[in-house]
Formats: sequence, C-alpha cells, structure tokens
Amino acid sequence: MSGFVDLHCHYVPGVDDGVRTLDESQRLLRGLAALGYTEVVATPHIRTAMFENRKPGLTKAFDELTSILGPPAPSSMPRLSLAAEHFCDDVFFGLLASDQVLPYRGGFAILLEFRYEAWPRKIEEQLFRMQVRGLRPLIAHPERYYALFDETDPLDPLLDVGAMTLLDTMSLSGKYGERCRRAAERMLEEGAYDAACSDAHRPEDVDVMGRSIERLRALVGKEEAQALLSTRPRGILDGSYDP
Ligand SMILES: [Fe+2]
Repeated sequence: MSGFVDLHCHYVPGVDDGVRTLDESQRLLRGLAALGYTEVVATPHIRTAMFENRKPGLTKAFDELTSILGPPAPSSMPRLSLAAEHFCDDVFFGLLASDQVLPYRGGFAILLEFRYEAWPRKIEEQLFRMQVRGLRPLIAHPERYYALFDETDPLDPLLDVGAMTLLDTMSLSGKYGERCRRAAERMLEEGAYDAACSDAHRPEDVDVMGRSIERLRALVGKEEAQALLSTRPRGILDGSYDP
C-alpha cells in the first residue's frame, strides 16, 4: 500500500501559528511518518495583517529547515516540499499576477482559504482563469466555513470552475467544534471531498490525527480513506488527478 501524502501542514518553525522550534518540527514530521505519511507539504499562511509572509522569506525558511533535517531517511522522515496556504483576497490575486504565490510542487494546484464567517462571492471568474492556466484551486477545510455548516450548495459555483476540496481530517475528532464535525461528516457522505490532510500545527496533533484517520476509515471504508489520504493527493501533486 502506498504511503499517505499530506497537502496541508504547518511545520516550518516560526513563520506562522504552526510549530515554533526545530524540535517541534522534527517531532511533528516523525509522528506523521509513523502514521504512514511518506510526503508532507509545508503550507505556511500567507495572510495580510496576520501572517505577512512572502515567497522569498518562506523559501529561505524552508530551505534552512531542510538543510538541517538532511535527506529523508526511509520511514523515519517523509519527503518534504513547500507550498503555502493563501488567504484569498485582493492581495492574493496581486501576488498571483506577479508570480509571487507558492503552488504545490508540480505547479498544478494551489491551496486557498477564505474568511470563516463570510463565504466568498463573485470570485468564480478569477478561479476559472486560474484553472484555464492549469492551476487548480484547492479549498482548505470547507467544513470550517459557517456558510457550509448546514448545506454544501454554496460550494457549487467554485466546483463548477474547477476548484477542489481538502478535508481537515482532525475535524472528524471534533477539534474545531461540533458543527464543524457534523459538516465534515455530511460532506464525506456526499462525496464532496477530493482529498484529506492533517493541517497539523503541533507535535501534539499527531495523536489526534491518528484517531481521526481511524474515524475516517470507519465512516467511508478503508478503500475510500486510502484514496483521500494517498492516491488523490498524490495525483493533485503530479497533475494526474481529474476531479
Ligand atoms: Fe492551515
């Protein structure tokens, strides 16, 4: 069985609300490897007024981390690569236009998040243009948006223009509250997710993630869980996945 691929994890120390130290980073990555992850993508936040990160600074911080960690030892450390969790606002579209964004390796997809309280309106055309250029938007944790707690319909216009969706697997353990957990279970039942990630911020998240993977398997079965955790995220990276 092929290993899991995590498309969303905050393990670059000191750049956002993720891990704070090298030691935490190592413990988080080793913990994910022990759960079965063979590749974990770093996705630090790029969000105005909260995490004022830019591509050059994040690339430098990631390169420093990987040079300290060294080449991946089989089974104890997953393969690492850098992308970002982009907050989707006017600043983001400016960065996109000037090639200052951080898509996933392979260049086929890019991780986006919105404000939890306000579901975005009228961004379909911009997302459609991205998709036409060969860059598919991947929407982080749809189950955490208030507008999607009780119904998935508001997602439809974005799916129609080629967007994909990424489950925060820890939502299934109630880490983000009961409404979010119920929304995640409903969307799983509807088959609304393209892939599932950890969105881990701390080494302590590994235990929660282990339980959440078990919960995912119980809800959708082993085969679909494997597709969400491994096959499809790998396909999103290499461009072979077609939603
Ligand atoms: Fe995140």
